Amino acid sequence: KQKYYTERYRPQFHFSPEANWMNDPNGMVYYDGEYHLFYQYHPNGTTWGPMHWGHAVSKDLVHWEHLPIALKPDENGTIFSGSAVVDWNDTSGFFNGKSGLVAIFTHADLYPESERPRQRQSIAYSQDNGRTWMKYEGNPVLVDETITDFRDPKVFWHKETNQWVMILASGQSVRLYTSEDLKTWDFASEFGDGHGSHEGVWECPDLFELEIDGDQNNKKWVLFLSIGDDPTYEEGSRTQYFIGDFDGKTFTNIHSPETILWIDRGRDNYAGVSWSDVPNEDGRRIYVGWMSNWRYANVTPTKEWRSAMTIPRVLSLKTLEDGVCLVQTPVKELQTIRENPITITNKTIRPNDNLLSDIKGNAFEIVVEFELGGADEFGFKVCKSDSAETIIGYHVEQKKLFLDRTKSGDSSFNDSFAGIHDGELVPKDNKINLHIFVDWSSVEVFGNDGELVLTDLIFPNENSQDLELYAKGGNVKINSLELYTLRSTWSK
Ligand code: FRU
Repeated sequence: KQKYYTERYRPQFHFSPEANWMNDPNGMVYYDGEYHLFYQYHPNGTTWGPMHWGHAVSKDLVHWEHLPIALKPDENGTIFSGSAVVDWNDTSGFFNGKSGLVAIFTHADLYPESERPRQRQSIAYSQDNGRTWMKYEGNPVLVDETITDFRDPKVFWHKETNQWVMILASGQSVRLYTSEDLKTWDFASEFGDGHGSHEGVWECPDLFELEIDGDQNNKKWVLFLSIGDDPTYEEGSRTQYFIGDFDGKTFTNIHSPETILWIDRGRDNYAGVSWSDVPNEDGRRIYVGWMSNWRYANVTPTKEWRSAMTIPRVLSLKTLEDGVCLVQTPVKELQTIRENPITITNKTIRPNDNLLSDIKGNAFEIVVEFELGGADEFGFKVCKSDSAETIIGYHVEQKKLFLDRTKSGDSSFNDSFAGIHDGELVPKDNKINLHIFVDWSSVEVFGNDGELVLTDLIFPNENSQDLELYAKGGNVKINSLELYTLRSTWSK
């Protein structure tokens, strides 16, 4: 039976905790027919506090079942971010020759003083599909006396060298370690000095291989790296990526060190990492990010719970004019919650036309292809009323896709919340396409099949339900448009 979450701003098809505070996605692993999603969780309040791992499972990445807290603080500290893997060959010896799940996470002491190094890596294992967890008696398994920020281990099996690899954040760099049994770790290399953005503490790395243009024989490694909020910079916390080679020990950036690549040009996609052990026949690299920003995460205007994840997205690499770029597309499973389709084809939109004036909604999806005409700007106004609107627009001359949340609703909780966020999107054959997801308090826009992504929170009031399709300064043509209401995925 479906239970609709009706609290103000509550997302209907995004993952959010039943109650209380959530931040980073953790321990994402696919095992025995289930996608596991763990997450940084404070069960005793709606702001950040002593961290636990919350837990949910899904068969389709869309409908989630909430499970009891998986990991709780212990004598080694609170439970910060980390990953989980399937130990298929029982390398750890935890599973009597069978397979099972191992979680690798940071044990963290609270500020300011700690006799021991403040952040240490530990492991836990589950012999019952993640339902119960045993912490390893030899914890912590990786300690460094010299590094203060030393956290967020992401582990994967590197088949070419037949070993486990851990990548973790170490201040302004990442470090890589290798292991045969997940219990003993050897230092392999360090990456980061002088590379990319250092506008905040480095956090939550991930490292995985992707095909370029769907070619099995042409692959590169992608390193995801989130950078924390630093008040000197406008954007708050955000996630960058590097493209390179990896030999089992060392990551080599193929770009010049000063190149900075962002995974998202909106403000609310942080600490994202990918699922481990997604079956080979599927082959997808799927990830979610935490849909918030440390700049204001603790003060967003929700009451009973705080924060949601992005929709699950598939990652790939694609060659564009100026090089290889990361592409993100919504997982196809989301199509199962589509309802009430509306289709428009071959239609010219003139200034002051609004084909969608009779449509209302706060949880919907739009798939659209525009052909540029005389208009210098066009797009959608969503979650609109007399007092509010969020604009998803395209600036033809600047070749920019933008998300304008300056009038999106409540932004009183933080000065930097109201704003316009944009990124370059180059038309192809005079066309651009957009894939848009709106879910009460968030907007995700994928431009040109996911070459450019903008993810932003919004906090419109309940009456802001109108939709507008607009063109300014001339016409634009809709080659095709599909609009769907999306069903709530909350279930008891
Ligand atoms: C990232 C982060 C991680 C840390 C966790 C603590 O958002 O700061 O580096 O493990 O959150 O909750």
